[in-house]
Formats: sequence, structure tokens, C-alpha cells
Amino acid sequence: ARTVTRDEDGTVTVGGIEVTRLAEEFGTPAYFLDESDFRARCRAWADAFGRDADVFYAGKAFLSRAVVRWLQEEGLNLDVCSGGELTTALDAGMPAERIAFHGNNKTVAEIERAVTVGVGRIVLDSFQEIARVAHIAQRLGKRQRVQIRVTVGVEAHTHEFIATAHEDQKFGIALAGGQAAEAVRRALALDGLELTGIHSHIGSQIFDMAGFEVSARRVVQLLAEVRDEHGVELPEIDLGGGLGIAYTSEDDPREPHEIAKALGDIVTRECEAAGLATPRISVEPGRAIVGPTAFTLYEVGTIKPLEGLRTYVSVDGGMSDNIRTALYDAEYTVALVSRTSDAEPMLVRVVGKHCESGDIVVKDAFLPSDLAPGDLIAVPATGAYCRSMASNYNHALRPPVVAVRDGGARVIVRRETEEDLLRLDVG
Ligand code: LLP
Repeated sequence: ARTVTRDEDGTVTVGGIEVTRLAEEFGTPAYFLDESDFRARCRAWADAFGRDADVFYAGKAFLSRAVVRWLQEEGLNLDVCSGGELTTALDAGMPAERIAFHGNNKTVAEIERAVTVGVGRIVLDSFQEIARVAHIAQRLGKRQRVQIRVTVGVEAHTHEFIATAHEDQKFGIALAGGQAAEAVRRALALDGLELTGIHSHIGSQIFDMAGFEVSARRVVQLLAEVRDEHGVELPEIDLGGGLGIAYTSEDDPREPHEIAKALGDIVTRECEAAGLATPRISVEPGRAIVGPTAFTLYEVGTIKPLEGLRTYVSVDGGMSDNIRTALYDAEYTVALVSRTSDAEPMLVRVVGKHCESGDIVVKDAFLPSDLAPGDLIAVPATGAYCRSMASNYNHALRPPVVAVRDGGARVIVRRETEEDLLRLDVG
């Protein structure tokens, strides 16, 4: 479904529009998001999981009103983790019952709002929150549907997963030591709560299904314990998000249908073994849906060759529009897109314009050695966790997100202006 192409004469187009034209019209830096690709990915997830499962797009990866509308049109649900994300979702018309509310420290105001509008589920993350949500729901005369987030003793990071790494992190309630069983006991005893299931999210940018399998198995074991102790079969399990995408050619992502099959098989098998009816499965992909759909377009400003080392290419953005390289040592690729070049490749580091030496966008890459100021370069796969984690560091103006589709382009998040900056500064 991807509509980025490079013609024989070197012209790069996205959604039928030449990138040079996009730069002229919308400026740089800017994120260009391929709407058809986004929608196709939503459909692929929805189709793969089918009618007996639910897909919740994780809004933290990137959220805007247009995105919320696309999700609705393509039949997805939405996971939010703050009052701000909830507001965006509701404002764009997402029905509250299709929203799941997450977070390890939801405020009382956020919980009140979520319960009042009637979100489909609140994912409870601590013992205090179990009591807090129950109390608020009761006070508001409601019974809130909730899941309990458990930590299953699997922590997945990029390519590997490490068992028993769960004790030392802030999310969820440990299965170990009977903690999660105690959380279920408490939730079942509270009138304000309708406990519908168990939630587990094991990490992000994962390629190996083994971590998910361990997670699913342990969650099903808990369901069996709950049945044995309380005579209740919880009807839902959520296995979180975290499916990896290809940032470079070394990454080999799983397809939604492979993931759906692997998760479905393991849950069915474990439930059969435990004598449980198969619960309704849900998942929460963020990166896997939006990540590959956008690229960032930058203009080259200065070029500094360092003898025997590499050439530093400075662009008009940086860590304020993509913090991932500085924060996680994330790997990206880069390409010259405003023209073709037959010049020899040179080793470059693409850096931003911020006052930090760690302000790196692409750590190691090759660009043609005739690269010049004014050239446009594109960094692909910046749809997830780039605009959503963008900052105003050095009073940078956060770039716009432009949706491109069928030869048309429209701004869905506008570029910040200096007036925006000054408006907040009321001293
Ligand atoms: N569900 C829960 C409960 C989560 O905490 C997350 C991500 C997701 C779903 C979606 O995960 P995804 O499918 O997008 O991997 N800023 C980091 C990623 C942080 C992910 C936090 N939670 C990054 O840029 O790599």
C-alpha cells in the first residue's frame, strides 16, 4: 500500500506528489504521512484479527483528529493514556466505548472524565488504582469495565526477551508472588468495577513471537486460577502492542496475519488445556500501524567533512522532531530525494540544529559526496514516536504533519509558529 516511488529520472513522489513540490508548499522540516498506507495497515490488522478479536491503535505513537477519523472508518478501536489523548479522541468523534484508557498514574480528574464519558475499558495498573477507580465509579453511580495489567516476567526489548526482568519497572502488577491474583480478588469484590479481563504489554519494537507466547501462556494460567478460586471465567485478554517495524534493512517484521495466528493458536491451545472457553483477544499496535507510513523531510544546511572520520550533515530539524536516536540509539536510514546523483557515497552523520552534540538524527549513513546545502533528504519510518515525542527544545517550532493521498496533500497538524510559543509565555 506504500505509495512512495522513485522514477527512473530520480523524481521521488509520495501519494502521487513530487517531494520537491511538497517541500515548496509545506516547508521543511515536515512529516509526510501516506494516508492510504495508514488505512491499509489498519485494515490488515482488523482483517487479520477478525470478528472475534479487537484491535486498539495505540495513540501514543501518533494521534490527531484525522487519525481518529481514519481509525473509525477502518473499524479500529483506540488506546489512550492521558486526558489529552482522550480529549483528541472524543473531539474527533470516537465513541467512548471504543476507547481503552491506560497509564500507571491516571489522575483523579482523568479517571472521573473517563468514567463519566463511559470509556470501554480502564486498564488498572496498581492496587491504589483499583480502589480509586472503584470509588470514583461508585460515586458517579456507574460500574466501570476494567482490565488488570499484569507483568508476566517477560520483558521484550528489540530482538531478545529477558525472563524475570519484570520486578524492576513501574508498570502493572506482578503475577509473581500472587500479586495479580490478589488484584483480581480485590477488583471482583468492588461494586464499582466490572472486571472483564487481564492485560499484558511486554515491550516495544519486538520481532520474536516467543515473548508474546510466554506472556499469553501466563495470562491464561491466571485466568484458570481465577476460575478455580472464584468460579468466574474472565472473558477478555489483551496482549498489548510492541510489534516491530523495519527501520533498516536488517529488521524483519512479522505481518499482522502471522501475529494474529500465533497469538490465536497459543491462546486457544492453552485455554483448551486449562478447560477454559477461549477469551476475546485484543492487541494494541501503535508503531506497526503508523511507523512506516511517514517520513521526515529536511533541508541540508551545512556540511562539515572531518578528515578521516565522517562528514557531518546538519539539517533544519533534529532531536526536537526525532528524539529516538538520542534516546534509544535508534537506527534510521536517509536518502537524497530532491535530485539524483552519481557521485561516490560518503559516510555521513545527519545531525540537527540543537545545542547538543547528542543531537543526532541518523548516526551512520551514506549520502552522495556531492551533497550540497539546499538538497532535500528524507528519513523514512518516522510515523511513530517522532511527532508525538517532539519538543520545543531551543524554542524549536514543531513541524507539521501533512497527509498525502491520491495526488492531494493536506496539513493535519499545522506547523507551530512563534506566536504559539509566545502565547504560552505569559510572564
Ligand atoms: N500498549 C501499551 C500498554 C503500551 O505501553 C504501548 C507502548 C503500546 C501498546 C504500543 O506499543 P507499540 O506497538 O507502538 O510498540 N517511545 C518508544 C516506545 C514506547 C512505547 C510505550 N508503550 C519508542 O519511540 O520506541
